Amino acid sequence: MTEMKSVSDASAVKAPVLPNAQTVLDVKHWTDSLFSFKVSRPASLRFRSGEFVMIGLLGDNGKPLLRAYSIASPSWDDELEFYSIKVQDGPLTSKLQHIKPGDQIILRPKPVGTLVHDALLPGKRLWFFATGTGFAPFASLLREPQTYEDYDEVIITHTCREVAELEYGRRLIDDIKQDEMLAELMGADFHKKIRYYPTTTREESPKMGRITTLLKDGTVFRDLGIDGIAPESDRAMVCGSLAFNHDIKDILEEFGLREGANSEPKEFVIEKAFVG
Ligand code: A2P
Repeated sequence: MTEMKSVSDASAVKAPVLPNAQTVLDVKHWTDSLFSFKVSRPASLRFRSGEFVMIGLLGDNGKPLLRAYSIASPSWDDELEFYSIKVQDGPLTSKLQHIKPGDQIILRPKPVGTLVHDALLPGKRLWFFATGTGFAPFASLLREPQTYEDYDEVIITHTCREVAELEYGRRLIDDIKQDEMLAELMGADFHKKIRYYPTTTREESPKMGRITTLLKDGTVFRDLGIDGIAPESDRAMVCGSLAFNHDIKDILEEFGLREGANSEPKEFVIEKAFVG
């Protein structure tokens, strides 16, 4: 009895004193520069699919080092998933890339964000435009039943430099198409609503080029057999680098779509992907 007590005392002393600590459950490395991981979900955390939270680790100075991360898992899931780049000299990701199951991370349970269904007016076709880790909020929304309840068609475009960088998204979409829970909820044919349009810019693949170029020259519409983007039917969510978001915004506005927000739903919404 005495011995047991001394063991638990010792582990209590060693336990890291992290505010809002969550336990790492699983880590997957996709490439030298991309990884995804799952952590425990605080019982009190409620969020809408597509939102982000601040997560991180204790910095060298003992203060929390936090960054915004989109939650890649859907709102109904017991665990929280995140998808991240690894920046070798990045203050957070240089350390975060080494986490292992059983480690703890900090998660500030205050979800926010504009890539949510509430920020869009009703429509028929929903576009998700992502580059790089900008895929993360769509990994959440693609597993959210409301996405298929609200729309007849869901087109996800993902542009990366190299083919291997598409793998996280490609696998996730394959899995969703075979998801029994979604099929039971939304009907066996729900997966026919998903149209996946991956492109690469610096490595040979079946579809090369920036999505912005392929939208402007009409290639996307010819490939998908649709007339174009119209404010009456089309809604869009955008997540990528600043330059990407800016360029897609211009294109969507040329098609007559207007940028919306939680307080004022319109035809498209934009959020910057986490970088660095
Ligand atoms: P590119 O290789 O032509 O720069 P990054 O790794 O720099 O964040 O880029 C991720 C992907 O997004 C790359 O394929 C990149 O294409 C593409 N990209 C970057 N900026 C833009 C932009 N302004 N418009 C369209 N695609 C972009």
